[in-house]
Amino acid sequence: MTTIDKLRPYSTCGELRADDAGRTVTVKGWVNRRRDHGGLIFLDIRDRYGLTQVVCNPEDSPIAHRVAEQVRSEFVVEVSGTVQLRPEGTRNPNMATGDIEVIVSDLVILNAAKTTPFEITDHSDVDESLRLEYRYLDLRRPKMQHNLILRHRIVKKIREYLDARDFIEIETPILTKATPEGARDYLVPSRLYAGQFYALPQSPQQMKQLLMVAGMDRYYQIARCFRDEDQRADRQPEFTQLDLEMSFVDMEQIMQLTEGLFIELVGLTDMTLQESTFPRLTYDDAMRRFGTDKPDLRYRLEIADVSDVVARSEFGVFRGAVDSGGVVRAIAVPGKADVTRKQVDELTEFSRKFGAKGLAWIAFEAGADGERSVRSPIAKFLSTEELDAIAAATGAGIGDLILFVADRAEVAANVLGRLRERFGDELGLADPTVAAFCWVVDFPLLGWDEDGQRWDAMHHPFTAPLDEDIPLLETDPGAVRAKAYDIVLNGFEVGGGSIRIHQRELQRQIFALMGYEDEQIVERFGHLLRAFEYGAPPHGGIAPGIDRIAMILAAEPTLREVMAFPKNQSARDLMFDAPGNVDTAQLDDLHIKVVMPEEEPAAK
Ligand code: AMO
Ligand code: AMP
Repeated sequence: MTTIDKLRPYSTCGELRADDAGRTVTVKGWVNRRRDHGGLIFLDIRDRYGLTQVVCNPEDSPIAHRVAEQVRSEFVVEVSGTVQLRPEGTRNPNMATGDIEVIVSDLVILNAAKTTPFEITDHSDVDESLRLEYRYLDLRRPKMQHNLILRHRIVKKIREYLDARDFIEIETPILTKATPEGARDYLVPSRLYAGQFYALPQSPQQMKQLLMVAGMDRYYQIARCFRDEDQRADRQPEFTQLDLEMSFVDMEQIMQLTEGLFIELVGLTDMTLQESTFPRLTYDDAMRRFGTDKPDLRYRLEIADVSDVVARSEFGVFRGAVDSGGVVRAIAVPGKADVTRKQVDELTEFSRKFGAKGLAWIAFEAGADGERSVRSPIAKFLSTEELDAIAAATGAGIGDLILFVADRAEVAANVLGRLRERFGDELGLADPTVAAFCWVVDFPLLGWDEDGQRWDAMHHPFTAPLDEDIPLLETDPGAVRAKAYDIVLNGFEVGGGSIRIHQRELQRQIFALMGYEDEQIVERFGHLLRAFEYGAPPHGGIAPGIDRIAMILAAEPTLREVMAFPKNQSARDLMFDAPGNVDTAQLDDLHIKVVMPEEEPAAK
């Protein structure tokens, strides 16, 4: 039943029902479709709330009927008339307003519209560039409206959840100084200080730590972050984090807080939680069993280590890999024993792209007697005992295909992780209605950077080491584990955080391992280190990526589907056509001279 308020003294297109029959109403919106039945003209009027069918009858209202003859799709109209039940047999149970129609007495064209470059419907396959160029039309589609509304509800739920737990929302600056999150910075030239630049924040990481020093013990922000990095389906140059930080906490408390929040967010959708207590994996386990630090746990398809089984086998590739300190790992792909030569070649090509030197395989076919019959180019090198042990380790049975990679552990993990993901997809193992979370913990604190010949932070340089690993900073930095945690949902990293270093000396030690000279430390991080001398509380936090969460909860394949005005895959805004050129005068103000590269990069 309609509720008319002062802000909206008319009905939306989604609210009229059978019990409104007989009422005089006004609706406003866009013409979704016009059908001229040579006499009666039917218009579907659309707004954010739905669709309402209105009928112009030349006998009841000749003027309105004449206006209706001129109306086209996407015209903006105001319609007044009487609600009536649709005649029996013409009701539409698939439409919320499908029981009624409005018999038009007045029809006013509020604005005409040119023919749109694509039809405003969820059921058409439109080139994405065109959609992005005319984003305001694309956003009229019900699905996009649904996505933006879902996103709004996610952010609203986040605010409610944190507000109920004493968090306060604090804004931090966008014009700031470079922050080390590992991507390239977006820089903003200063007019007042020739040759100097602000950096847009890659995250408000240092700000939130400084807020802890400031005594704001529970902070959050729906924060815009900027990172100049390669674009992917799950990466945008600017994106939004729920950035949060707490004082006097440990990992466990932050993880509990985050789990509670994510469970509420899933509750906004029809998805079901795979497990309400999120499983925890160490980084090493995740890499070994799933070949990635963001495993999709909706399906198992686990990677098995068969190094021990094949260490002394006759197959030189396997024995050689183990002898030289590498591993042999495998996955069993269910039901794929009928793999063709051509498919194997393609899988091998796929594996090579990710660094594999080759891909060995064994198919367990059903023999005439129902026994296991082995088809494989390497079968001749393997004994029955070895084959049995491989079957046991991988869980492969008759009908399954086993794929092997022999290499350094990292390469084997990565390649098999990709194969796992690929078969998860191809075999439809991932239920789109299920939300499978997990935590990944015990990350290495530092990774060795070959190019720079120095250690680099795996998360960021403010992350604290595990207490028991601190002595290793002196002796074996690569073995130090971090008080860091990532939260993973259906194969995407949807958030990451850590307990921070709050002691100045430890922080200096880490910076030094990362190869910073004392002056560089002061220049880049002096503000933070100085703050730590004035009573910094122990603190930690996390930053869930809101775009990624919205993407998964909306069951969309890219972040672009849940952002109002995203950049395309080449980091361009096709609607504004940005980035664009600026006047020389403006550049002069900024003390900037542009030197074009020899070969101009392709524009769009
Ligand atoms: P991190 O760099 O792991 O941590 O980022 C946190 C989360 O932000 C999301 N995210 C992105 N989403 C879209 N496009 C991108 N380019 C992009 N990059 C990251 C991911 C990721 O998990 N300051 C720390 C957090 C902390 O320590 O509290 C940080 O930014 O979902
Ligand atoms: P080769 O001995 O090079 O002819 O390889 C025999 C089989 O082993 C082929 O199917 C190769 O693809 C595969 N192979 C070669 N190197 C590796 C490797 N490092 N890991 C797994 N399989 C491999």
